[in-house]
Amino acid sequence: GNEIDPDRTAFHFQPSKNWLNDPNGPMYYKGLYHLFYQYNPVGPLWGNITWGHSVSTDLVNWEALDLALDRTDPFDINGCWSGSVTFVSGEPVILYTGIDDKHRNVQNIAFPKNGSDPLLRQWVKPSDYNPIMVPRGDIDPDNFRDPSTGWFGQDGYWRTVVGANMKGRAEILLYKSQNFTNWTKNEFPLHESLSSGMWECPDFFPVSLSSRDGLDPSVNTGNIKHVLKFGLMKTLRDYYLVGTYDEKKDVFIPDEGYEDDYRTWPILDYGHIYASKSFFDGKKNRRILWSWVNESDSEADDIKKGWSGIQTFPRAIWLDADGKQLIQWPIEEIKSLRKGQVQLRDFELQSGARHEITGISTSQADVDVEFELPSLEGAESFDDSFLLDPSKLCDEITPSDKGGIGPFGLLVLTSDVEGLEEHTGIFFKVYKNSDKYMVLMCSHLRSSSRREGVYKPTFGAFVGVDISKDKRISLRTLIDHSVVENFAAGGRTCMTLRVYPKHVLTGQTSGLYVFNLGSLDVNIKELNAWEMARARVNIRNDDFISK
Ligand code: FRU
Repeated sequence: GNEIDPDRTAFHFQPSKNWLNDPNGPMYYKGLYHLFYQYNPVGPLWGNITWGHSVSTDLVNWEALDLALDRTDPFDINGCWSGSVTFVSGEPVILYTGIDDKHRNVQNIAFPKNGSDPLLRQWVKPSDYNPIMVPRGDIDPDNFRDPSTGWFGQDGYWRTVVGANMKGRAEILLYKSQNFTNWTKNEFPLHESLSSGMWECPDFFPVSLSSRDGLDPSVNTGNIKHVLKFGLMKTLRDYYLVGTYDEKKDVFIPDEGYEDDYRTWPILDYGHIYASKSFFDGKKNRRILWSWVNESDSEADDIKKGWSGIQTFPRAIWLDADGKQLIQWPIEEIKSLRKGQVQLRDFELQSGARHEITGISTSQADVDVEFELPSLEGAESFDDSFLLDPSKLCDEITPSDKGGIGPFGLLVLTSDVEGLEEHTGIFFKVYKNSDKYMVLMCSHLRSSSRREGVYKPTFGAFVGVDISKDKRISLRTLIDHSVVENFAAGGRTCMTLRVYPKHVLTGQTSGLYVFNLGSLDVNIKELNAWEMARARVNIRNDDFISK
């Protein structure tokens, strides 16, 4: 057998064993960051859902605590599902979905047993309040869940939203309360959609138009917009809409150009994430996003390795100066893990070239590269039909067909044998679509592993950037054994991958390359790659817990 589990990550959040899904109730409180998460305490597959709980001083190293919420009461006996934390009079309060004794989705509230304990180890779920919301009328009792962080209005009422299926319509139901414990459903939802099926894990928050700083959830004045983010059960992807929150009518109005067609909505991460949740970090005045990254190997593999599911590395998020796109960027604390560094500057990547980045180990790495194009001439054109399905366009790119501009990019987690039998490609290709240049970003997982039963899709997206002026495109890539997080154009387009290379099983190390298969030579303006140290993630430390 293998003593070392080659798929376990070194600096991504995961419990020491068993199943994890959605991040829940992230917060900063009394000097500590808290992360709760959907957790099966007894096995590596989804089920018996409780709230796992960990704390951190730096969002990098984590200490595991006991379960925060367990299935103990009639209102949550069949599961403690996703929810959020709100600061009410300075104290954190949890709203979460319980699966009750009738197997309905209901919303519950929990309070810290002792708010002066920064670890917030124990939570009480008063039965004189719970459940605080039950599925009435048209609300489908199987699809009514995931209360958001609350916000406080000018009229003295708290609000929270809950995802619901109302006879096939997706509604983001809005509830109001004066005391945070008695809630009344508003007549109108915050937002609704006829086209897209149930919306899970709604997250609703203000973003600044003039700064990268995050905002407290209750801010609704100044130069701001609001973002509504949610997961679609239908596609298992997270989407977001940018718009305005009309507090008087209690509705969210997406910005111009919005249609009720999910195929046209921006996707938070074009790879493999779901059920993300953000929080306002009062320590550093920023908004931070967590996302669940499910496994892509087989259930049999999950059982064998005894765990399943990780979180993305925390990302700071803010609104781009264009007022349209969210930008996501690994939080600066990641730098504390960087060790050995290698660099390339003004490196000519000729047509057909493949160049290995040597000098550091690259199975735990942080890579930042900027490509510069000498010209945009020769960009291929494509059919408009690809606009709605970029992954299909990516799928048609093969190493043998020499393109115009690109494909150029990175090959990660490559097996160190001639021919790079195993490799994962993250690359760009530039197209011309009428008078506009479009940057296509692709990830090919088809050769990522020789293992059987692994999902190896192709992901694609158009990068929300205009390269006609500076002719540059950047890629930041976090490589961590079985996860690769990619950030194009400074975090405008993200693509997270799960990969399970087989070569590491025999003790082989993995390689990292830059490549260019296009007919145009490309310049690497600058490339920096750091080897990453292992973070301390949820190694149970009883000294810490009994402190
Ligand atoms: C999203 C989700 C939530 C639910 C939770 C259950 O992944 O389905 O809607 O609350 O997971 O674990």
